[in-house]
Amino acid sequence: MSILEKDLKQNTEPKAKDNLLEVKNLKTYYPIKGGFFRRTVGYVKAVDDVSFEIKKGETLGLVGESGCGKSTTGRTILRLLNATSGQIIFDGQDITNIRGKALREARKDFQMVFQDPYASLNPMQMVGDVIAEPLKNFGKHNPKELKAEVMDLLQRVGLPEDAYYKYAHEFSGGQRQRIGIARSLALKPKLIIADEPVSALDVSVQSQVLNLLKELQQEFDLTYLFIAHNLSVVKHMSDRIGVMYLGNIVEIADKSSIYDEPLHPYTQALISAIPEPDPKRKKERIVLTGDLPSPANPPTGCPFHTRCPVARPECSEVKPQLKEVKPGHKVACVLYD
Ligand SMILES: Nc1ncnc2c1ncn2[C@@H]1O[C@H](COP(=O)(O)OP(=O)(O)OP(=O)(O)O)[C@@H](O)[C@H]1O
Ligand SMILES: [Mg+2]
Repeated sequence: MSILEKDLKQNTEPKAKDNLLEVKNLKTYYPIKGGFFRRTVGYVKAVDDVSFEIKKGETLGLVGESGCGKSTTGRTILRLLNATSGQIIFDGQDITNIRGKALREARKDFQMVFQDPYASLNPMQMVGDVIAEPLKNFGKHNPKELKAEVMDLLQRVGLPEDAYYKYAHEFSGGQRQRIGIARSLALKPKLIIADEPVSALDVSVQSQVLNLLKELQQEFDLTYLFIAHNLSVVKHMSDRIGVMYLGNIVEIADKSSIYDEPLHPYTQALISAIPEPDPKRKKERIVLTGDLPSPANPPTGCPFHTRCPVARPECSEVKPQLKEVKPGHKVACVLYD
C-alpha cells in the first residue's frame, strides 16, 4: 500500500437516497471547421452518450485515458459548454438549456476545482479578492462581511489568515489548490466537479489536498464528481466509479465492484495495469494493443472493439448499451447480453 493510499485509508461513507445530478444520454460534439468558408466539416465526438446519476453526498469518480472526454463531460454539466443533445438534471431542475438569469442562479450551486491551480487564479489579485470575487458577483458588497467570510474560508481550507493579503504566486502548488478550493466553496455550492485536482501537485501533498476535500465534503454537505487518471486516487475518493472510453461510459458501479470484479474488458485492462504491491499475489497484466481511435472518427459498433482482446465479429456492428447486470453494476458489453 502506498503512502498515499495509507493516508487516505480513513474513508467516509456519506450516503443519502436522492439524486443531486442526473445525466441522460449526454453528447457534446466540437465542430471541426475547414475549407475557405470555415464550414463545419465534421465533429469531434468528445462525449458520445454518457448517462449516470450522483446521489446527494456521494462521490462519483470518472476515469479513463487521456482524451476520452472526462473534462468535456464535466464542463458540459457545469454549462461551460453546450450539450449537443441529452439532458442534465440538477437538483430536480433540467438545466440543459437554461440561460440568462436562470443559469446565473443555478451556477451558485455548482462549482469546479481545476487541475492547475496556478492558471486558474488571477496573479494580479490579492488572495482575499480572488476568494471574495464569486461573493461579489452574487451581490455581496459589505466589506466587513466579505472579509469575515473570506477569513472563515481561509481557515476552513487550512490557510493562515495573512494569506488574505498575499498573491497566488507566493504560495506552493498545494496551497494554491487550497485557495482554489476556498474560492469554489465561497457560494456554498451543492456540487463540486474536481477535474484532476491533484495531478499537478507533488505526491507528498496530494493526499493532504485529497483529505481536505474529504473533510470539506462532510462539513459542507458536498457532492463530488471527481475526475482523475490515477486509479488509486479515484479509488480512495469515490463511492462509485464510472469508466469512460472514447466518449462513452462503458462501466459504472460501486468502487469495490469496479476494482474486485470489473466486467468490461477495458476496465479489466485498466485494473490489471495497477501495480500489485504484494509480490506473492501475481496478476496478469492485460496489455491493450493499438492506439486510441480518434473521437472525430470513432469505430462503428462498440467503441472499444478495435482494441478489445475478446472482441467478436458482431462487436464491430452493434453498439452495446449500458445495462444493469447486477444490482447497481452497469456495463456496456455484448459479453453480458
Ligand atoms: N475545444 C476543443 N475543440 C475541439 N476538440 C476538443 C476541444 N477540447 C477537447 N477536444 C477533444 O475532445 C476529446 C475529449 O477531450 P477532453 O479534454 O474532454 O478529454 P479528457 O478525458 O479530459 O482528457 P485528459 O485526461 O487528457 O484531460 C479529445 O479528443 C480532445 O482532443
Ligand atoms: Mg481532462
